[in-house]
Amino acid sequence: MSRLAVIGAGYVGLTTAACMARLGHTVVAADIDADRVALLSKGEVPILEEGLPELLAEGLASKRLRFVVGAANAAPDAEFVFLCVPTPQGDDGSADLSFVEAVAREIAPALRPGTVVVNKSTMPVGSTRVVERILAAAGASIEEIGVASNPEFLREGTSVRDFLEPNRVVIGCDDPSVAVRVSELYRGLKAPILVTDSASAEMIKYASNAFLATKISFVNAIANLCEAVDADVREVVLGMGYDTRIGFEFLRPGPGYGGSCFPKDTAALLHAAEQAGYDFTLLQGVVDVNRRQHERMVDKARDLAGGSLDGVRVAALGLTFKANTDDLRDSPAIHIVRRLIEEGARVVAHDPAAPARVLDLVPGLELAGDPYAACAGAGLVAVLTEWDAFRWLDFGRVAAELAEARILDTRNLLDPAAMRRLGFVYEGVGR
Ligand code: NAD
Ligand code: UGA
Repeated sequence: MSRLAVIGAGYVGLTTAACMARLGHTVVAADIDADRVALLSKGEVPILEEGLPELLAEGLASKRLRFVVGAANAAPDAEFVFLCVPTPQGDDGSADLSFVEAVAREIAPALRPGTVVVNKSTMPVGSTRVVERILAAAGASIEEIGVASNPEFLREGTSVRDFLEPNRVVIGCDDPSVAVRVSELYRGLKAPILVTDSASAEMIKYASNAFLATKISFVNAIANLCEAVDADVREVVLGMGYDTRIGFEFLRPGPGYGGSCFPKDTAALLHAAEQAGYDFTLLQGVVDVNRRQHERMVDKARDLAGGSLDGVRVAALGLTFKANTDDLRDSPAIHIVRRLIEEGARVVAHDPAAPARVLDLVPGLELAGDPYAACAGAGLVAVLTEWDAFRWLDFGRVAAELAEARILDTRNLLDPAAMRRLGFVYEGVGR
């Protein structure tokens, strides 16, 4: 078993730290945010992730997991240092590596000979080399230190399960002996381990996210076409998905993809393609379809409201970028709600997990304590996130609360026939 440092205790870092401790390693996790470190040290998980509180408790109790403030305080004793800090979208679409660079500079003087720095943050092709150069410039003896790429494929909401039962583990390093050392950390998992060069590992991560985004934009485009020709996209996807070459996954139509990764990673891949002189028209189309899909939901809301949203009270059900997470980053729901308010609607929202700071993100938004309160007096209800709880609402009661029984179901969560039987004017996506 090995000694690990994990830098950045967010969705990826915290999951990595807790799961690596479960696998038997000793982990010191560092964050720059002292409040977060204090909470984690007390066993409190500041994000919504199924199974994480239990794993954190287990790690703290076994003393295989502890938390410190500052990367430099985690690095000195580590055989492996995992970088799990943000790589947000820069102004030109590229991945902003400033967090990674800052950490590399900070840890360089503390690294022991033989330590491997593992890039788990999503970073463009060439970043392994960038980290090597920064470490060397900041005083690390680079001949004695390895740098590997080990991209992460977990999804928010199911991060623990995705980490412990991955479809694959990808490790990229131009020195095979370093890659083998990293692969041994995952020995406890039943998953294929792909060892490759660093550039290919980095590209695998972007290609995977871009492909999943492509599936979503493709099905959204088909859904829009279904609306024009009176077909039902749900039936279409069912008929497509039985073909094992296509499958059922990531073909749920909706308001367009969001979250902290697909939007920024598609932008970064487009930027990288442009830099490389490749015209990636296909991916540009995926991004354009997605942007228009958000706006299409606003069009649907306006049509349902009779042509204008001005003065219309809208009940928004859901604000997070998908169900079972508290993450609001690049949420389609937030985009839609902002646009509704811009067009003069009064929006009262309910979300079971969205943090209260959502009010700072959307000026003018009001929050209600439960879905029925959000609906009171509203002229339109819009389901924006596919929380299971919304599926099981008492829609008779919802109808009674509303001023007008009109429902926009951007997630195709509800049964249109049942809604219409209850007297709703129902609008979904592609059906
Ligand atoms: P996050 O914002 O949830 O967490 C990042 C953490 O790093 C924060 O707690 C922040 O305080 C901390 N941090 C920032 N600078 C630091 C520093 N100098 N020293 C120590 N800690 C520092 O981010 P995330 O969602 O976990 O994403 C991290 C990376 O993983 C990104 O590159 C992302 O693209 C990638 N990724 C994310 C997911 C996901 O589902 N969220 C999945 C796969 C890959
Ligand atoms: C996504 C990938 O699924 C992970 O493999 C990857 O590791 C991660 O990005 C990352 O790199 O950060 P995540 O963003 O947590 O994970 O969420 P997803 O479940 O992939 O959903 C992303 C967006 O696509 C959401 O807005 C979701 O509602 C939407 N989506 C997803 C659809 O509209 N239709 C679908 O069929 C699936």
